Amino acid sequence: MKLDQLKRDAAAEALKSVESGMRLGLGTGSTAKIFVDLLAERMKAESLRLICVPTSEATRIQAHNLGLPLTTLEETPELDLAIDGADEIDPQLNLIKGGGAAHLREKIVEMAAKRFIVIADETKLVANLGKFPLPLECAPFGLEATRRQLEKAVLSAGCQGKLVLRRKATGETLLTDGGNVILDAHLGRIVDPAKLAEALDHVTGLVEHGLFIGMAERAILATSTGLRTLTR
Ligand code: A5P
Repeated sequence: MKLDQLKRDAAAEALKSVESGMRLGLGTGSTAKIFVDLLAERMKAESLRLICVPTSEATRIQAHNLGLPLTTLEETPELDLAIDGADEIDPQLNLIKGGGAAHLREKIVEMAAKRFIVIADETKLVANLGKFPLPLECAPFGLEATRRQLEKAVLSAGCQGKLVLRRKATGETLLTDGGNVILDAHLGRIVDPAKLAEALDHVTGLVEHGLFIGMAERAILATSTGLRTLTR
C-alpha cells in the first residue's frame, strides 16, 4: 500500500478523537498536513466549533486557507489535544521530530496540550531511536562553540556522531521559523534517549532538540494490514 494512503488512514483514525469545542494543536509535515485537510472537511460537514494553534508557518497558511479558526498560545495557552507526525517512534513512545525543522514550535504546542497523539505510517516505528539524524535547533550566534558543547553532551550520553549543519536544496543554510539554524546529529543509535535529552537540555546555545520524551499518550500507526495503536 502507498505511504500516502497509510498516512491518511492514521490521520482519519486520529480525527475520531476530535470533538466540537476543542482547542487543538496542529502538527507539521506530510502526515499532519493530511490530518489538517481531513479536519477542515469534517469541521465544515459537521459544523464543529474548533480553535487551532499551528506548529509552523506552513501549517498556519494551510489551516488559514482551509478556513480553520486559528489562535495563538498567547490567547489560548492551554490546548485539549495536539496531533502531529514524527520521524521516528520507539516502543516506549519516545520520538524524534524536527525533520521538517518545526520541532521547537511543535514541542511548545504539544507541551501545552493535555493530550498528544502521534500519527504515522508503519515505517516510523523503530526498535531504537537514532537512525534518523536528531535535529538540534541552535542560535546562530556562537554556533561553533555550541557545537563543541553539544558534542560533549552527546558523548556523555554514550552516543557519537557527526553534527551536520542543515542546508536547503539551494545550498543556503536553512533557517527555522524562529530564525535559528539546525545541526543534524547523525548518531546511528541512541542508547538512552532520556539521558541524551537531559544532557542536551544543559547546553546553552541549543534552542531545542528533537527528542520528545514521555510526551505522546498514543501513537496511531497505519500498516498495510490495518491500524496499530501504541499507548504509554
Ligand atoms: C516537523 O519538523 C517534524 O517533526 C514532522 O512532524 C516529522 O518530520 C514528520 O513528518 P512527516 O509526516 O512528513 O514524515
